[in-house]
Amino acid sequence: MNIPDGIKTEALRRIEPYDVEGFVLGAGDERSDIMIVGEAPGENEAVKGEPFIGRAGKELDKQLDILGLNRKDIYLTSVVRSRPYRWVENTNKPGYRKANRKPNKKEIIAHAKLLDYQIDQVKPSVIIALGSVAYQRLTGREDKMSSIIGSVMEVPLLKWSDEEGWITSEEEYKVVALYHPAAVFYNPKIRSEIEDSLKNVREYLQNEKAPEDSGA
Ligand code: URA
Repeated sequence: MNIPDGIKTEALRRIEPYDVEGFVLGAGDERSDIMIVGEAPGENEAVKGEPFIGRAGKELDKQLDILGLNRKDIYLTSVVRSRPYRWVENTNKPGYRKANRKPNKKEIIAHAKLLDYQIDQVKPSVIIALGSVAYQRLTGREDKMSSIIGSVMEVPLLKWSDEEGWITSEEEYKVVALYHPAAVFYNPKIRSEIEDSLKNVREYLQNEKAPEDSGA
């Protein structure tokens, strides 16, 4: 996707004060009806500049498969484009290493206009939010993930305005929340809940597509 220089430069400048590295713009089909929004890149993504190429990416591919989707069919991006890290002590040798962490509010704001721009460009009919960071950033809602995963909501989106802060869009978007693909690594027990939510979403997407496909 072509991002105007001003938007990219501003995103890079605004994220600079924080402990982050790399920059990942997004990938996939900009004309897709489906946009998937993750949280922030991890180590592999930050090095290569591509979204979801590490362990969470392999899990995402499995989940896309259940959804009946392929990476080339969707536009994939995230709330923050640089890898937020913190220093942690090594367990097996002296010294420290960088560990992933969730992006904080200021980092989310630093990259908000970039995500807003991409949503305006892609104009997706469905936005899939992977995890609570993406869901809260997009909708401003704080629902418990376990109570909403796999359901489709029609809601306004939050957009960032330098003058007014977070504002809500006039138009409503269809937003589906799913667990972040990495969630199952920390809690393998949610695997069947995840699969049920994915099947729900698959059915919804197929029904959405059906009128067009039948030529009606
Ligand atoms: N998590 C994300 O949200 N994005 C990535 O690219 C990788 C992990």
